[in-house]
Amino acid sequence: MATPISSVSLTMRCFLYAYFLCLCLLFSLEKGYALEGRKVAESHHSHSIEVSSLLPSASCKPSTKVLSNNDNKASLKVVHKHGPCSKLSQDEASAAPTHTEILLQDQSRVKSIHSRLSNSKTSGGKDVKVTDSTTIPAKDGSTVGSGNYIVTVGLGTPKKDLSLIFDTGSDITWTQCQPCARSCYKQKEQIFDPSQSTSYTNISCSSSICNSLTSATGNTPGCASSACVYGIQYGDSSFSVGFFGTEKLTLTSTDAFNNIYFGCGQNNQGLFGGSAGLLGLGRDKLSVVSQTAQKYNKIFSYCLPSSSSSTGFLTFGGSASKNAKFTPLSTISAGPSFYGLDFTGISVGGKKLAISASVFSTAGAIIDSGTVITRLPPAAYSALRASFRNLMSKYPMTKALSILDTCYDFSSYTTISVPKIGFSFSSGIEVDIDAKGILYASSISQVCLAFAGNSDATDVFIFGNVQQKTLEVFYDGSAGKVGFAPGGCS
Ligand SMILES: *[C@@H]1O[C@H](CO)[C@@H](O)[C@H](O)[C@H]1NC(C)=O
Repeated sequence: MATPISSVSLTMRCFLYAYFLCLCLLFSLEKGYALEGRKVAESHHSHSIEVSSLLPSASCKPSTKVLSNNDNKASLKVVHKHGPCSKLSQDEASAAPTHTEILLQDQSRVKSIHSRLSNSKTSGGKDVKVTDSTTIPAKDGSTVGSGNYIVTVGLGTPKKDLSLIFDTGSDITWTQCQPCARSCYKQKEQIFDPSQSTSYTNISCSSSICNSLTSATGNTPGCASSACVYGIQYGDSSFSVGFFGTEKLTLTSTDAFNNIYFGCGQNNQGLFGGSAGLLGLGRDKLSVVSQTAQKYNKIFSYCLPSSSSSTGFLTFGGSASKNAKFTPLSTISAGPSFYGLDFTGISVGGKKLAISASVFSTAGAIIDSGTVITRLPPAAYSALRASFRNLMSKYPMTKALSILDTCYDFSSYTTISVPKIGFSFSSGIEVDIDAKGILYASSISQVCLAFAGNSDATDVFIFGNVQQKTLEVFYDGSAGKVGFAPGGCS
């Protein structure tokens, strides 16, 4: 079928990055937390961890608690993309990447975020061809990568279930669409066919919502037979180009939204791990969070499970746990899409590290669901590493794992004691990172401190998803705050 979009060519000299960490979220109506309960004992300043619990188990231990859904809340289940709880993991298209690949891909996402933020005042960079007649200037790394967690939502009438990567670091939602005029990558579910849905409409290129794609994607929209054409590219060679349309989006049996703007991708390429596309949870007005604001008031929360063999949740609306601690969202340093936070300090083993406050204020900080490893300003990372190594000096060190330079061989231990790590924020709160958020295990003989330093002191501090594990992270975009509560999931 010769549609105008078949002439869409996307010449992007994208820089390398790819990251599809193995975690993913699957929406469902239940949740629960099969407590793995491997922490042997807990002191004030250290975690006692069974070495065997550092690696995920081979079978899925699904949640036992039931997620409640009511008038102002919709909860969905979260699982690790390549783990035993994921249906995508059976797909060869999403074969698990190696740890080195994951970390390399993560580094590319981080580069893309840094570049996007530092370029926000300047323009220029690469050209992206959306159609033969429309060449649009794109900033280097103008958008960020595809995220690591997946949610299953319903799209269209009748609704089709689609597993989408969710990403707090990007805005527009898109899925691969038939007839895949140019190219679709392999995905697990059937590719969405707008011609089989009674609720699909195209957006006209003359509409103002088409123009607002510029801020949401970093690319000026194109036009094909008067239909609005979006194009979004990620920090690697991944991209999606297609028609910008509206559809009915179904989150749960009770929560559905008509006329949600989304991208119907006709030319898609990249490392989306067998998922059908991306769910944008950023702060731009085209994100799903903004488009459902009337119902949920820009409130959502999630809990990322401690391992690929357990489950977490993503909830829209509702209220935070009573024990959640809040800190204000900041926008000044973080760019319009990102959730900025004001970090003030880091503690290791109960002791606040001597890091000047200007180290954090110079860099600024964001929280991101799609970055794996937390990136600290260089001065903060050296202080953290020195203190951690000192407190871990009884354990034998081993070779570095990609960007992780502080690794241990625990093969002759059954239980280890690891110093607690806490983040402090401008509101005066301190958030304890879970034991599962401190170490990244490639194998029992190579377990690394799961933090890395930025190379430049002005690069933004990124609170990554390993460090968010098991925390309930509650975003309130209306009140302008983010809250953290321990033990959101296991
Ligand atoms: C949307 O626009 C494209 C390009 O003009 C066209 O091929 C397609 O049929 C349109 N879909 C609808 C539902 O109007």
